[in-house]
Amino acid sequence: MEEKRNSFGGTIGFVLAAAGSAVGLGNIWRFPYLAAKDGGGLFIVIYLILALTFGFTLLTTDVAIGRKTKQGPLTAYSKLHKGFGYVGVLSCLVPMLILPYYCAIGGWVIKYFIVFLTGQGNAAAADNYFTSYITSDISPIIMFLVFFILVAGTILLGVNKGIEKSSKVIMPILIILVIAIAIFSLTLKSNADDGAVRTGLEGLKILVVPDLKGLTFGKFVNVLVDAMGQLFFSLSVAMGIMIAYGSYLPKDSDLEKNVGRIELFDTAIAILAGLMIVPAVFAFSGGDQSALGKGPSLMFVTLPKVFESMGMATVIGSVFFILVLLAALTSSISIMEAIVSSLCDRFGWDRNKTTICAGIGSFLFGIPPILGYNVWDKATLGGMTILDMMDFATNSILMPICALLTCIFVAYVIGVNSIHDEVRISSAFKRQKLFDIMIKYVAPVFIVAILISSILEALGIIKF
Ligand code: PHE
Repeated sequence: MEEKRNSFGGTIGFVLAAAGSAVGLGNIWRFPYLAAKDGGGLFIVIYLILALTFGFTLLTTDVAIGRKTKQGPLTAYSKLHKGFGYVGVLSCLVPMLILPYYCAIGGWVIKYFIVFLTGQGNAAAADNYFTSYITSDISPIIMFLVFFILVAGTILLGVNKGIEKSSKVIMPILIILVIAIAIFSLTLKSNADDGAVRTGLEGLKILVVPDLKGLTFGKFVNVLVDAMGQLFFSLSVAMGIMIAYGSYLPKDSDLEKNVGRIELFDTAIAILAGLMIVPAVFAFSGGDQSALGKGPSLMFVTLPKVFESMGMATVIGSVFFILVLLAALTSSISIMEAIVSSLCDRFGWDRNKTTICAGIGSFLFGIPPILGYNVWDKATLGGMTILDMMDFATNSILMPICALLTCIFVAYVIGVNSIHDEVRISSAFKRQKLFDIMIKYVAPVFIVAILISSILEALGIIKF
């Protein structure tokens, strides 16, 4: 098994594939909102510090576990310690639950791309368009299927011809698009009915100038927890993906440097997404910062209205949604790879057959979250739809638990040396001391804070 295992052709392929996983919907629909809400530059500085410490530690751990064991997440933990196979089961369960609903959202993105490309942007900007689309019968399932075929097709092509090649094409295009839209957004200017002139550059200030007004200790903790939660989701850690990709990383490729490159890529795209979205929303939504929402409402409701008010919805809307589509595709590909590699490694199954079986299973599991807006709209829990529930179970509960168990596993069961040894094969491991302190003491505390705050937020006890 081991000799035949796939491997990325080289460092660039690995970094672009892993960055493709990290750069996803979270960068586009959550980072800009959090940065604008949490004091602009203040949030960005905290996020950067966390990326270089907390993010670095979790990402290094996942990639090192993958490269050391040469296993997908399901069997990686048990290979290191027989009694900890259940952590592998948990970290394989996360992608299995995320893939169906992430691809369902990917289907919505395809729909919006087609709508803008065919010049129907004004329809998309109308009130209730989004709700009536996701509650419709057939189209969300068809779009989901189209998106899903693109994902599964890439996995069928294999690690090199599928994942690596597609990342090498998609990621450079994605960078060019995000830079182009960000520049465009910064040059925007709108004349409101009340005679006020609002510019994109004023919106830039909201994003980058640290706003310390009224900063209390409580608010600071809130910003910190927001940044930790965002970083955690954005780096695709604690969901088996980086273990799977790490298992394809050649031993001579500098693991420590690669982790730095992935973080740089992910953070740069998140900030560029902020530059692309915050100035545009500011200039075209009456200068009201609260217009900048997050999640699907930002992407599918607010932004189409902004594109419409700019008067060039067809061009800017199509370019924007193709960008989102590419980001969602590379992330979904990585989620599916975590599942497929796990099953192949655990059961010794043939890759193509596994992909087809996992594909059919995930497709079927993707139908309930779609129907949750239609015939099953009564199936809610505390106001959460089926899709929200799957999102909550994975992001808010399972991922932090997985990350916590992984820290405990590395720090107190197999010992940090096993990670040191793996990193040292290819790198000087300059941040080794930092890594040790983070994984033993700081990261577990951070993760518990994320877990508690996301549960309280979901229960409506606190509001972020
Ligand atoms: N990191 C991706 C993002 O920011 C999210 C993701 C989630 C990717 C789950 C893979 C799996 O959107």
